[in-house]
Amino acid sequence: HEIDAKQHNADKGEFKHYMLKEIYEQPDAVARTLEMAIDNRQASALRDDFLARNEAQLSGVQHVQIIACGTSYHAGMVAKYWFESLMRLSCSVEVASEFRYRNPVVLDNSLVICISQSGETADTLSALREIKKQNPAGLVSLALCNVPTSSLVRETDIFLPTLAGPEIGVASTKAFTTQLVALMLLVLKTGAVQQRIDSANLSTLLGELQKLPGQLYASLHLDAPIKAMAEHFEDKKSCLFLGRGLQFPIALEGALKLKEISYIHAEGYAAGELKHGPLALVDKDMPIVVLAPKDSMLDKLKANMQEVHARHGELFVFASEDSHINAEDRLHVVYVKAVCETLAPIVYSVPIQLLSYHVAVMRGTDVDQPRNLAKSVTVE
Ligand code: G6P
Repeated sequence: HEIDAKQHNADKGEFKHYMLKEIYEQPDAVARTLEMAIDNRQASALRDDFLARNEAQLSGVQHVQIIACGTSYHAGMVAKYWFESLMRLSCSVEVASEFRYRNPVVLDNSLVICISQSGETADTLSALREIKKQNPAGLVSLALCNVPTSSLVRETDIFLPTLAGPEIGVASTKAFTTQLVALMLLVLKTGAVQQRIDSANLSTLLGELQKLPGQLYASLHLDAPIKAMAEHFEDKKSCLFLGRGLQFPIALEGALKLKEISYIHAEGYAAGELKHGPLALVDKDMPIVVLAPKDSMLDKLKANMQEVHARHGELFVFASEDSHINAEDRLHVVYVKAVCETLAPIVYSVPIQLLSYHVAVMRGTDVDQPRNLAKSVTVE
């Protein structure tokens, strides 16, 4: 174990924590994951060998069921938006610990996607086994996993890897963004096989995907202003994260990251739900983080921000540089470079990771090994 620890310390290189190192590895990890499916010289089409052996299985899929836990579940929530809005393919997402015990209906011709960094999460494996026991007609199971030798990969029909490399920090970072990338590639592949996406849309999205590593680098450059923002959170007890549409799962992920490593109570909310409860919590001591890319929900989101501001809540906004959101009293802004709406959840993951990281470091918690948590939960 001592040798392991030394080896690991060496692996951290210039970084103080694995989590920070893994946050910074994201542009490379995403580029590797993209290379599975996109040939640089032929950027307007998917590679011929990407899931080539699975085309017949994917062509019969009529419904998608996603199962996962923790951060992996949030990746699944983003994929639901993608499957439904881009492909018009119905998609359900559920946490594995609930799914496995409620005798759910699994529709015929379902593609069951189990998302797991480790591939050893007990609840996710059990949920998969329950579905296999039900044995609906036309079932296709897929493991989206970072560990090729895992139980989950062995027990599913299709293995779609995330090429994040080993993730040591308990709080998942590069596994999450590579899961999102792989899910988008799967959406595109399924869409192409089923002719649910036309070639113009496909090549636009492939072009946007190729910009991601550069956009992630640009997000990492926001470290200094995000660190300055983090100082406002150091002594806070509770915090809200708001997003709409594709950013709602990222708001949930931001709240999860913050509570996992800084031990500050945090809740993610769909901003449209504010008036149904959380608005009662808003006062001058309540920091509210908002994810505000320029997308079809931006005007609605601005109205939600106004509701908070009017009640003296302090807003911390990650906004697109072309969002026309300006800093003012109790409204702090960090500008993120403009990015296409569909892929914005991947880019906006980085600022929320950095924010949580800096708050945790300021509070002196054990960032890589938070109390009471495990990297992989292999028992119930
Ligand atoms: C634990 C980890 C989380 C992870 C979750 C699911 O709670 O601390 O970071 O998201 O398990 O793990 P998995 O390996 O299935 O993605």
